[in-house]
Amino acid sequence: MSRALVVKFGGSSVSRLSHLKTIAMVLQQRAEMFDSVVAVCSAFSGVSDQLSLLCDALDSQSTDQGHLAQIILDHQNKCEEFGVPFDPNQKYIADLRTLTKGAALIGEVSPTLRARIMSAGELLSTTIIHQFLMQCNLSCTWWDARKCLQSTPTSNPITSRLSAVCTFDSEPSLMAKLKELETTVVITQGFIAAQPDGSTVILGRGGSDTSAAYFAAKLQAVRLEIWSDVPGLFTANPKLVDNAKLLRVLNYDEAQEMATTGAKALHPRCILPLKHHRIPLHLCATPFPNIEGTKITDGAAIAGVKSISSKKGVYLVSMDTLGMWQQAGFLADVFACFKRFDLSIDLVATSETNVTVSLHFEDNGSTPSVWSKLKSELEAHCQASLVGPCAAISLVGSGMRASLHKLGGIFEYFAEHRLYLMSQAASDLNLTVVVDEAISDALVKKLHSKLIGGFGDLSTFGTPWNALSQTEDQPVKKWWHSQIKTLTEIGKSNPTPHYIYHLPTIQDRLIDLKSLSAISQCFYAIKANSNPRILELVHQSGFGFECVSIGEVQHVRRHIGDKATVLFTPNFASRSELKAGRAECDYLCIDALHPLEHWASDLAGTSIFLRIDLGWGGGHHKHVVTGGKRSKFGIGVADLPKAIERCQQANITIVGLHNHSGSGITDSEIWATKTKALIELAADIPTLRYLDIGGGFGLDIDLSAVDSALLPISKANPNIELWIEPGRFVVADSGIILSTVTQIKSKLGKCFVGSDAGMHTLIRPALYGAWHDVHNLSKGLNVPPNHQQVVDIAGPICESGDIMARNRRLPTCEEGDILLIDTTGAYGWCMSSEYNQRPKPPETLLT
Ligand code: LLP
Repeated sequence: MSRALVVKFGGSSVSRLSHLKTIAMVLQQRAEMFDSVVAVCSAFSGVSDQLSLLCDALDSQSTDQGHLAQIILDHQNKCEEFGVPFDPNQKYIADLRTLTKGAALIGEVSPTLRARIMSAGELLSTTIIHQFLMQCNLSCTWWDARKCLQSTPTSNPITSRLSAVCTFDSEPSLMAKLKELETTVVITQGFIAAQPDGSTVILGRGGSDTSAAYFAAKLQAVRLEIWSDVPGLFTANPKLVDNAKLLRVLNYDEAQEMATTGAKALHPRCILPLKHHRIPLHLCATPFPNIEGTKITDGAAIAGVKSISSKKGVYLVSMDTLGMWQQAGFLADVFACFKRFDLSIDLVATSETNVTVSLHFEDNGSTPSVWSKLKSELEAHCQASLVGPCAAISLVGSGMRASLHKLGGIFEYFAEHRLYLMSQAASDLNLTVVVDEAISDALVKKLHSKLIGGFGDLSTFGTPWNALSQTEDQPVKKWWHSQIKTLTEIGKSNPTPHYIYHLPTIQDRLIDLKSLSAISQCFYAIKANSNPRILELVHQSGFGFECVSIGEVQHVRRHIGDKATVLFTPNFASRSELKAGRAECDYLCIDALHPLEHWASDLAGTSIFLRIDLGWGGGHHKHVVTGGKRSKFGIGVADLPKAIERCQQANITIVGLHNHSGSGITDSEIWATKTKALIELAADIPTLRYLDIGGGFGLDIDLSAVDSALLPISKANPNIELWIEPGRFVVADSGIILSTVTQIKSKLGKCFVGSDAGMHTLIRPALYGAWHDVHNLSKGLNVPPNHQQVVDIAGPICESGDIMARNRRLPTCEEGDILLIDTTGAYGWCMSSEYNQRPKPPETLLT
């Protein structure tokens, strides 16, 4: 049986020389693996828009305002950029000139003519791309898609020509035709097809994805690959939410739902042919050819919210009437009005006297200006009003009904904002709310941080966009990039696994934190990394130390001495530990009523902080959320009066309130939110001078946003100092682990690379599903994709959870290669163990 592959390249992929080179490489590789490879290409970026404007100008009988000249010039420029000869009399340019002239004479552009003019974009781009690829020594054949894709005409001449639908039955004769060609690779057009009489039609905007799906179905392809400028579908629009995560796997229904509710990376219509024939779809990106993108298959879906999509330009039509109650046919009557205006309805909400529907005029090829006509028709049946522009925000994922209990917290956002309509899809794949367009971006960000944020099952959620995007043109500047040789040497000539820390990076982070103008004092949470040289650096930078055990307090005293300012914040400490801590530290934080009720005499005469649980928390994983019902930390707000009373009775002075919400938080607003809440509580404590608003700063937090949110609060409360106590942010990206490849194993279709670093070295992947980038230093960072493979990196510990990283694309590894596990400066060595009698790793500091 022949194996065909269909690969589609979008406009942005074919419009840049560097991406075209990637395309040549991808096609070369695929040609070695498949019997036939069909490359479906879009027009160059912006060309379809220009063609559409050209048609509009001709149709409105105004003269072409230079669109044609611009289109020709754009193609000439592309040819120059790609080093391909340009022929101004080339067939499709000549055709375009003739068609334009003809339309100008007639003074109108019929749907047939529009389809012919629009098709020039793809016909021209594929001709140029074909020439370029041939010059790259890729032998390939140019094909006219209209010879293969046949549309099914309908009674509507406009949609038949401009939003055509094609058949997608398997077509063995097409495969046979491909096999007769001399080349394995065929270059053809997306977006265009032909009616049975051979006349040109187009598939509607974004139709190239659908063309590719038709080709895949007809050829019964092994898979379809769609290459664009993003490697797949994300948990939110990455242009809006920069820590949106790449979705690794989705099933067809989820992908379809995301595409329909606003995800731009995929056209909704392309799913059906693939689903029908169970052809997997892989989304890939030309700027990141080494990254495995989203895979869409017919697999079972893991339940839960996978993305927050939003669609702007939505309008609501609210229809009121008493007459509909128990009256058959009301909906039929009003919906018939929408039908007459060719408006399709997206969401519907009904009550006894009102029906509200949502629609998107633009998606229907219309504009809100039709409203006055529609309204007068509707008013034969009801009172109608239009609300908008709104945005429909959809939480998409399988089994939404079963996940409803997890969504409870999000409804608080609607306390301040109007929620017009809410709809839970009958398919159980989405929950949609319609809100004012103006608040939609902020709401998407909030929902994303609350529902997806740092959490995630590694098999579903992949690399965040901000990490991916930095790998494109300007690779993230990591301190170790300039030290690859030295590090490989260290790895080769020292025992591994081995922790390395870069002190200048820590210094930079300390400076970042010290420059927060709303903060009076910073404490370093030594639990993140208590290496004595790091503590020295932290101390020299004017930080105090936050310690959670008497052991940590003594460690600071041993290495830094009495000059260190120590804040002791233990949880469920014994009476003796608390007593010892009180004697050895500068500030003591009490996080329960128990010590105040039972050991008050030990605390008499002291000044203390009270740790408060505000009832909520956050963080990268549920294990690190330290607020709310499930959390064991702090005194509930309802118990604060009791705590204050106990302190008064026992001569204990409350000088501070403390709240730490969790770790790895990326929502910059939470520190201001909690400060406001603590200030309200402080009103009952006249002796209060400090608010410690905790640590928890995620690595990609926008510190300046935190500061600007805090500044007005600190200015309004000049007698209260704001303190923070970060750990991770200070040390995480200064640290790496060097490990050695021990063995390579291929089993049941999976490749494992053995590493001597395992869960005893770094517990974070096993404990929190944490993501750490892994690189093969021995092979370098610029290994071409054909020397890479997708592997799981496994440690030597006798537990199945001992996997440091799953499904990573790495240069082909060999025994003895040195691996680098990145961003391991925080909660790395300090959480390592001697499990299985394997020693704790050595640590080295670089200056
Ligand atoms: N203050 C208190 C009271 C804390 O419990 C913590 C961290 C911090 C400050 C510092 O939080 P940071 O800025 O580092 O996020 N092992 C986990 C993190 C546990 C955090 C424990 N408490 C991990 O590897 O992600």
